[in-house]
This record gives sequence, structure tokens and C-alpha cells, in this order.
Amino acid sequence: MIRLRSVSKEYERRTILDALDLQVDAGEFVFLTGPSGAGKTTLLRMLYAAEHPTEGEVWVAGRRIDEMVRAQLPLLRRKIGVIFQDFKLLRRKTVLENITFVLRIHGIAPREAHRRSMKVLRRLGLQNRQAAFPDALSGGEQQRVAIARALAYQPRLILADEPTGNLDADLASELLSLLCDINYQGATVLVATHDHAILESIPARTLVLHQGQIHYDGMWPP
Ligand SMILES: Nc1ncnc2c1ncn2[C@@H]1O[C@H](COP(=O)(O)OP(=O)(O)OP(=O)(O)O)[C@@H](O)[C@H]1O
Ligand SMILES: [Mg+2]
Repeated sequence: MIRLRSVSKEYERRTILDALDLQVDAGEFVFLTGPSGAGKTTLLRMLYAAEHPTEGEVWVAGRRIDEMVRAQLPLLRRKIGVIFQDFKLLRRKTVLENITFVLRIHGIAPREAHRRSMKVLRRLGLQNRQAAFPDALSGGEQQRVAIARALAYQPRLILADEPTGNLDADLASELLSLLCDINYQGATVLVATHDHAILESIPARTLVLHQGQIHYDGMWPP
């Protein structure tokens, strides 16, 4: 599902990622961790072509994406559910509409879009906020709506960057169990986090980024 071949990334002549090789197979659940500034976000952004490597090849779902032209990106991104903290909700649409809208773009019929949207909203404890507009939500609620939006489409690959950052412990563990369910149904899941409680909560393949290298690649807890 994901393959990096000798991928390097430099910013202003500083090497952030140094000739990384990595393979993640379809159906894996993988944590990506490491100190702040190690390049976790940079790596995730490369996986949906929001960032390009300085050198090397990035392959996702059988396609080389670092050489894709702009016109090819929408099709790639349709396969990927992205959970990032800076993802914006549509301010003029309600919570429910924010989610059904994306499903409708993907050609899902209105009733099915409604059913799926309500299901993820319930899982994330937002069923009572479905008619609210984003500006009336707390930061954590907005984040959960963005998560619901990324998951409702049931993408084959989920990239999540510190998805539990603004959530309290109960919601964080509910989100993780939701990601596990989706993984169990076949999706590949890659979660960047430096939250130790989360890393300890689910035994999973864990990649530790440090000084531009993958310092550890194996089960954690070991
Ligand atoms: N657009 C950019 N221009 C210049 N430097 C950048 C840019 N984006 C990221 N960097 C630098 O690259 C390094 C890695 O950043 P990145 O955001 O990938 O780290 P991270 O592991 O996600 O950290 P955190 O845990 O704090 O989120 C940092 O030193 C950052 O300052
Ligand atoms: Mg980051």
C-alpha cells in the first residue's frame, strides 16, 4: 500500500528525512512516532502528495505519487482518508452536511450518505450536534467532525496526524477503537503520535523516526 524508496527531504539545506526505505502492506495498522520535529508530519504529507521528496520515490496504492501532476491528485486523494488538525470544515454547512457532502461527491446516494454519516457521528459522540454549524462547536468537537468526515467514506488508506491531540481520554480511546475497526475491515491505517498512552494502548507495528532515520521498526510494546 505504501512504499518509500530512498526518500530524503530537505528544508533550507537541512536534512529532515535521510534516505528512508519503508514498506507498509495493505491492511496493516502502523504507528509513527519520534520527537517533535523528527519529520512525522512531513512524511505523512508526502503520502498524499502535499509535499514532495527532495530525492527518492513515493509509491501509494501501486502508483508512484511523487511525480504526479496536479490533475492526477484528486483520484489519488479519493482513496485516502486524511485526519489532520488543520483540516477546515465548511463553515456554511452543518455538521451532518459537512460529512454527507463528501459522500455525495463520491457518488453515494443520499439515504446511504445520511445513514453512514449518522453512524460515524454516533461513534464519535456527535449525534446531538448534527444540526450545528462549525463555528458553534468547541475545538475538540470540530476535530471530531473532521475525523468523521475522513472516515465516513471508508477509504482504503487512512493517514492520521496526532488525531487525539485535542480529545479527552475517553474520546481518544473511542477514536482509536474506531480506527481499529476500520483497519479490521481491511483499511491500512498510519497514525502519527507522540502520545505514549496511545502507543501503549494498542500493540502495533511502530516506527520511530529519529534524526532522519527509522530508528526502530517493530511491535510496540515489544
Ligand atoms: N515548510 C517548511 N519549511 C521549512 N521547514 C519545515 C517546513 N515544514 C517542516 N519543516 C521542518 O521540518 C522538521 C520536521 O517537521 P515535522 O512537522 O514533519 O515534524 P513532526 O515530527 O511532525 O513534529 P511534531 O511532533 O512537533 O508535530 C521541523 O524541523 C520543521 O521545522
Ligand atoms: Mg507533526
